[in-house]
Amino acid sequence: MSIACLIRRTGLALLLAAAGTLALAQAQKKPQSEAPVYEPTVFQEGKDVVWVPTPQVVVDKMLDLAKVTPADFVMDLGSGDGRTVITAARRGARALGVEYNPDMVALSKRNAEKNGVADKAKFVKADLFETDFSKASVITMFLLPDINLKLRPKILDLKPGTRIVSNTFTMDDWEADATADLGAEGGCNASWCTALLWIVPARVGGIYRTWQGDLVLIQQFQKLTGSLRTDDGKMLAVTGKVTGENISFTAGGREYRGKLNGKSLELR
Ligand SMILES: C[S@@+](CC[C@H](N)C(=O)[O-])C[C@H]1O[C@@H](n2cnc3c(N)ncnc32)[C@H](O)[C@@H]1O
Repeated sequence: MSIACLIRRTGLALLLAAAGTLALAQAQKKPQSEAPVYEPTVFQEGKDVVWVPTPQVVVDKMLDLAKVTPADFVMDLGSGDGRTVITAARRGARALGVEYNPDMVALSKRNAEKNGVADKAKFVKADLFETDFSKASVITMFLLPDINLKLRPKILDLKPGTRIVSNTFTMDDWEADATADLGAEGGCNASWCTALLWIVPARVGGIYRTWQGDLVLIQQFQKLTGSLRTDDGKMLAVTGKVTGENISFTAGGREYRGKLNGKSLELR
């Protein structure tokens, strides 16, 4: 083969290789730009609950009731499109969404990016029943009454003072510490417009010797009943409540406040 012919062939081969690389690059680019955007549908199936988004005014109210601040670590159980986690992150909190549907997890991550909070709003693809949420200071959820009830023992074992907020669904006979019904006048035109708050109570039921007398506390979730036998022999009925670590009750027309310190109860 002559040198001229060799140069022509090499040139052609290089041209073909370059054209091939260009075609490959374009082919790799095309499906990405044309990939269909995942759009969830209200009431689509979920593992244990369908997806219905919490109206934004209710998300805001839930986080208001829980008094979320930048010091909080918020976890949303079944986080859907990520709106609650993203709203908490916009308030400066660290927040984690637990969601079983991987498409919703990917969508949430994109939504967090768009809102500029991807550093604080994180999402994991996981089953909420298999998830450790003991590090959360605030738990948010929009699940179902029977799921709330199933989670209740685990919630009651959380650190006293952990705040739980639910859209609409209750915790059976564990009454909420606060409720906000929004309705149309509150800017909520959907069907799920009630924010409920529970504060995990310390376990304080028991018998205590205090400066004020012998105190018997019977605890039912955050509610307290019982008796105070004063040192001058009076037996007074006790009614009160536990808010996180803090105890407050009335007995004989007097108000008492206190906290457990180890096994002893200090009252003022
Ligand atoms: C009613 S939606 C609430 C979504 C979001 N928290 C909100 O308030 O907008 C319930 C979500 O829980 C998810 N889910 C259902 N079962 C789950 C499970 N076992 N673990 C994690 N997520 C689950 C569903 O995919 C759905 O996105």
